[in-house]
Amino acid sequence: MWVYLNGSYIKAEDAKISPLDRSATFGDGIYEVIPSYDQKLFLFEEHFERLKSSLYKTFISSPQELEDLENILKLLHKKNLHKNQSFYIQVSRGVQAVRSHAADKDLQSSLFITSQELEPNPYKSQPNLKGLTTRLEEDIRWQRCDIKTTALIGNILSSHNPTLNPVDEVIFHKDGLINEGSKSNLFMVKEGIVFTPPLSNKILPGVTRQYLLDKLLSEGIDVLEQDIDIQELYSADEVWLTSSTKEVQPIHSIDDFILPSKDPKESIWHRALDFF
Ligand code: PDD
Repeated sequence: MWVYLNGSYIKAEDAKISPLDRSATFGDGIYEVIPSYDQKLFLFEEHFERLKSSLYKTFISSPQELEDLENILKLLHKKNLHKNQSFYIQVSRGVQAVRSHAADKDLQSSLFITSQELEPNPYKSQPNLKGLTTRLEEDIRWQRCDIKTTALIGNILSSHNPTLNPVDEVIFHKDGLINEGSKSNLFMVKEGIVFTPPLSNKILPGVTRQYLLDKLLSEGIDVLEQDIDIQELYSADEVWLTSSTKEVQPIHSIDDFILPSKDPKESIWHRALDFF
């Protein structure tokens, strides 16, 4: 597998990052995940805008090569051969000579990119496949979930708790309201209306979320960006998750609660799949 590291295309096994890189010592970095289908980047501009916004919000300087990101990804795509890929783009604040909370003034930010095969969404070919298992959990993450930071231990912590049953996704809530999944945004359907929590510091402004909102609206489907009370999930007709690598995937269960089973052909999540 080929990767890109600070100006060079190299084999993954030859890529070296210092242990004093601030993304390792402080989680002091941001990232982006961009999918491609049939060798074409999907929603590149939207992802690029969010990447720049993450840099702006974290005061990390933009590596110079970033302006050429689209071409870098296209070249990496050719080198890594798979038809559909997902690109991981990481910008770290840089490598510090001596560990210190305050970053050196002249620190150079670093750019690391890797790609892997994008697994096809199984619900596309098998819409009747059992949906995802999920668990509700109090949101213990920080107050800036709108930033796509590499500091993700809050998102993944409970997945490593050996006393909990493994689930496909953890759904975070706070003060009785749903925020988002640990790696996805959440949508709920009730009586033909699609609901999703509004943009705030509590959720990532998902590129897939926005893409779907626009598409559903253009199809004449009612969509509302509105707070979702936890209790509302238990009377929902559909609950689904969205992300750049999963597209749209339906939820089967939330803890012990099983969502009503519905013919995918009559479900809005299934219609939404056609947008990919
Ligand atoms: N995760 N919320 C969180 C916390 C996420 O990590 C993600 C995506 C999303 C969905 O965002 P988008 O539609 O832009 O992919 C929402 C990516 C895929 C990841 O971390 O690998």
